[in-house]
Amino acid sequence: MNKFAAKAVKALCALGLGFALASSVQAATDDAIAERIKPIGSVCIEGDDSCGGAAAAPVAAGGARSGESIYTGKCAACHGTGVLGAPKFGTNEMQARLDEKGMETLMNHALNGFNAMPPKGTCADCSDDEIKTAIEYMLSGS
Ligand code: HEC
Repeated sequence: MNKFAAKAVKALCALGLGFALASSVQAATDDAIAERIKPIGSVCIEGDDSCGGAAAAPVAAGGARSGESIYTGKCAACHGTGVLGAPKFGTNEMQARLDEKGMETLMNHALNGFNAMPPKGTCADCSDDEIKTAIEYMLSGS
């Protein structure tokens, strides 16, 4: 092989490698884009295991959320800092109300509203049980 041919082969190899790299980068980018623009949720029909049947099962069974997640998502806005006199998380204020009024009254006020406490604490889609676990979570934090 003369010098020129050797150079040409090198150049072609570099070119080929370049293409291979470029196309794998392109593939990775396409995956990243597909990942970014994929829908946030997907509907999973009960009994269809292909889309994570196990993960979908709790939702089919009612899917009660934890007291902590409801508290964090709905109640902490006021109860985290004690806005408008809300019994503040991390203090004994909720416990003091429980001792004074009992769980039935606290539940009644949490579900129907009480002064500046809005009905269901703004968690319109919370079940009674979920409101109760959120109160229990607040009590556990006192
Ligand atoms: C918009 C602010 C706000 C949000 C959101 C909120 N609360 Fe309250 N909550 C209050 C205020 C203010 C009080 C005190 C009312 C009073 O004593 O006059 C209160 C009081 C309570 C009480 C005590 C009621 C009583 O009889 O003393 C419970 C229980 C309670 N909240 C539960 C919850 C739960 C559970 C959530 C979330 C699902 C929640 N709150 C979300 C403002 C809020």
